[in-house]
Amino acid sequence: MKIAIGCDHGGFDHKNAIAEHLKNRGFEVVDCGIYENKSVDYPDIAVKVCEQIISGQCERGILVCGTGIGMSLAANKVKGIRAAACSEHFSAKYTRLHNDSNILCLGGRVIGVGTAIEMVDLFVDTEFEGGRHQTRVDKITAIEEN
Ligand code: RB5
Repeated sequence: MKIAIGCDHGGFDHKNAIAEHLKNRGFEVVDCGIYENKSVDYPDIAVKVCEQIISGQCERGILVCGTGIGMSLAANKVKGIRAAACSEHFSAKYTRLHNDSNILCLGGRVIGVGTAIEMVDLFVDTEFEGGRHQTRVDKITAIEEN
């Protein structure tokens, strides 16, 4: 699986640690920045990660800002993106099982690196359940179409 990752200055250390962890696990990682810890506008990075998903170049994405919220708000404006801001394990797993989320958004100022990495593992290792949840995801997509 190919995974896109990006962050703003609120998630720089987390992003680098997560990218390293995913590479060590054998995943191909597309690092969409930032590459030095300076202040940037999180929507600019969110769009880069979304483009990787929408173009089909990457299957999943990880976005880290201070809270995870700004990144999720920006990413969810992109058609075809289902971005989930999570701060604990259960949500990181169930947003894959039930929502077929394609981007996990994390808060570098909310959770520690260790927790973030465990949540990323759950996110990339969990498959969508489909069935009744597919119907619901289809209804989310229909909102975008209308
Ligand atoms: C940047 O200071 C901060 O606002 C950003 O990282 C994020 O938390 C926004 O939602």
